[in-house]
Amino acid sequence: MTLKIKRTSRKSGWHRIGREGRINDVAHWVQEDAYELENLLDSGGLSSTHAEELVENVLGRYALPFSVAPNFLINNREYLIPMVIEEPSVVAACANAARLIRQGGGFSATYSGSRMIGQIQLLTDDPEAVRLKLLENKEEWLAIANEADPGLVSVGGGAVDMSVRRIEDDLDGSVFLVVHLVVEVCDAMGANAINTMAERLAEVWEERLPVSPNLRILSNLADQRTVTVEAKIPLNALKSEDFSAEEIRDRIVSATRFAWLDPYRAATHNKGIMNGIDAVLLATGNDWRAVEAGAHAYAARNGQYRSLSVWETTPDKALKGSMTIPMAVGIVGGATKIHPTARLALKILDTKSAEELAIAAATAGLANNFAALRALATEGIQRGHMTLHNRSRKLAGTP
Ligand code: MEV
Repeated sequence: MTLKIKRTSRKSGWHRIGREGRINDVAHWVQEDAYELENLLDSGGLSSTHAEELVENVLGRYALPFSVAPNFLINNREYLIPMVIEEPSVVAACANAARLIRQGGGFSATYSGSRMIGQIQLLTDDPEAVRLKLLENKEEWLAIANEADPGLVSVGGGAVDMSVRRIEDDLDGSVFLVVHLVVEVCDAMGANAINTMAERLAEVWEERLPVSPNLRILSNLADQRTVTVEAKIPLNALKSEDFSAEEIRDRIVSATRFAWLDPYRAATHNKGIMNGIDAVLLATGNDWRAVEAGAHAYAARNGQYRSLSVWETTPDKALKGSMTIPMAVGIVGGATKIHPTARLALKILDTKSAEELAIAAATAGLANNFAALRALATEGIQRGHMTLHNRSRKLAGTP
């Protein structure tokens, strides 16, 4: 009889075993040769040729630390989370938070689906007549959009809906129309598909309707592509040397109220969330600026900028965090495809879909948020932060 050992991302003392030990572990995780993995990580992955394929006026490449945060249990599956970030403490905080959160059963997360919005601004002297024409022939417009990207349609995606908004400019009372084209983008980030479709529709409308199309571009407020994530930390996992578990829980809950009610604090609270998310997005070659833009716009969707996450006390006295956040990420196309280290990051995550990547990034965000609040609500962040900061200064030769 063979015993099947369940693989676990739980690593104790991982920071002490050294880089080689960690590379060996990760090589085993992704079933690759440790020597080859080390070579890839030493080189940073991206060659000068690759770099020139990505952007313009290239002089060279720019390296950042590539780390892995262990301990993640998400929807009952084990994950190692790849992170690229220059800020000390973020990776350690993420791993520690995930360790405590797994004591409460790990993260549970859901995904809304991969629908993104393209916006087409139409200038016209007769907005009402144009609005009605656009809505009357909706199916035809959707078909034209889909003809512009047969590749997306062939993998099950494509334009699925359309609505027309009327925007009145309070500067001079003029009115323009904005069409929202809703596109199922599957495992892509979606920008190329949406922009291609939006530009094609604008061309057709310019020929057939009394309109002058202006902007044709996706919206980064991806509110039809969100992750909702929850994490529970049992009361007994919360206590520290100087504070009782109840004190820590209540101080974190009060810190959340502060961020919910005050935009000055909300900006910093949300920055702590994005520390985790951006690091995963950078590691996987995703457009972190797009996700940043979506997150902050979503945080202000009801007119006041608020915290993206909420931490509260559960009926069984534990601490529970939850967050819904737009997450426009892809696992096909762009740097995810070209960058060898981004491909390795996706392999470490073992993701087969944009959904899984989106969920993993969101959990890293909530983990970092919890870690920051726990530190801020107790001993402050400077003690841990300065130890690492001093190490960086020493490395840089700064007195
Ligand atoms: C620092 O990078 C992030 C924090 O400021 C987040 C927060 O205040 O919640 C510590």
